[in-house]
Amino acid sequence: MTFKSFINAATLGIGVLAMSTADADITLRNSITGEVLDLSYAKKGGNTEVFKEFMQTGKNPYNGNEEAIKKGESLYMTGCSGCHGHEAEGKLGPGLADDYWTYPRNATDQGLFEILFGGANGMMGPQYVNFSTDELLHIMAFIRHIYTGDPKKADWLK
Ligand code: HEC
Repeated sequence: MTFKSFINAATLGIGVLAMSTADADITLRNSITGEVLDLSYAKKGGNTEVFKEFMQTGKNPYNGNEEAIKKGESLYMTGCSGCHGHEAEGKLGPGLADDYWTYPRNATDQGLFEILFGGANGMMGPQYVNFSTDELLHIMAFIRHIYTGDPKKADWLK
């Protein structure tokens, strides 16, 4: 590689890097520590167009999508219902269908994703171990679908 082509490659590299950061308009943080979440831990296959859109808006594009909700329900039954109950009524972990949140940011899609990906305290470990980022968005759409709380507190709709 000549010096010039090295410089060109380096400039290109910086360009690509700048582009990929400009792509994400939201910064995801661990709900407990506040540290930026490392998405490189994410399972393969989850970086879908829908997930990319979520990373720009912080809003879950699957909300209200019947097919996505159905898939989310079945994923929820596999990975979450054991601790949160089949109707998200609460068991080992808190209920997820009402409008009381231990972590109030769960009333936003970004906050809910952050808890799912990065985990919280105790038994609520990071869920990236079991689900891809796209699958987590499906589960979130299911959780929003079964919401029984005050519509005024549904911040994700705002
Ligand atoms: C091994 C048991 C376990 C599993 C599996 C589990 N959770 Fe949890 N979850 C908990 C516990 C315990 C808490 C309370 C943690 C805390 O307060 O820090 C919690 C907290 C949460 C919260 C925060 C609730 C609030 O009131 O702010 C959400 C949201 C949540 N879990 C969603 C999920 C979803 C969705 C899944 C499946 C992808 C899942 N959890 C899997 C045990 C579990």
